[in-house]
Amino acid sequence: MDDANSLIQQARQAADRAYAPYSNFRVGAALRDGSGKVHLGCNVENASYGLTICAERNAIFAAVCSGAPRPFSALAVACVDAAPGGCSPCGACRQVMAEHFAAAAPVYVDGLGEFTVGELLPHSFSL
Ligand code: THU
Repeated sequence: MDDANSLIQQARQAADRAYAPYSNFRVGAALRDGSGKVHLGCNVENASYGLTICAERNAIFAAVCSGAPRPFSALAVACVDAAPGGCSPCGACRQVMAEHFAAAAPVYVDGLGEFTVGELLPHSFSL
């Protein structure tokens, strides 16, 4: 299995652990760090809706928190409840991706295809 398919499979498994009782829209993410290790994330919702965190940011923050080597090398996203054609990462997650991945790093979106971080968010904000 190539790396894209491996990461997508792991993102789908992470989506099974989503806590999404309000939207019933489960999302998973699988990130490969600079040493090759994989870190997972899922969306975790809250009764106070705005506190919800997306799967992609959960995976990125978990990897940062574990001291994983950056820049991270690849990310896969799976929205297992999306209509055929998948769903695309939200704008907030794209800005966070831009901080931790090279612009050329691949993002595999289940059902949609492969993009680079730079394609998903050109002209990202930086300090
Ligand atoms: N969601 C993600 O996990 N990632 C995205 O890129 C877009 C949206 C989650 C947040 C919320 O729990 C649910 O999908 C519906 O918006």
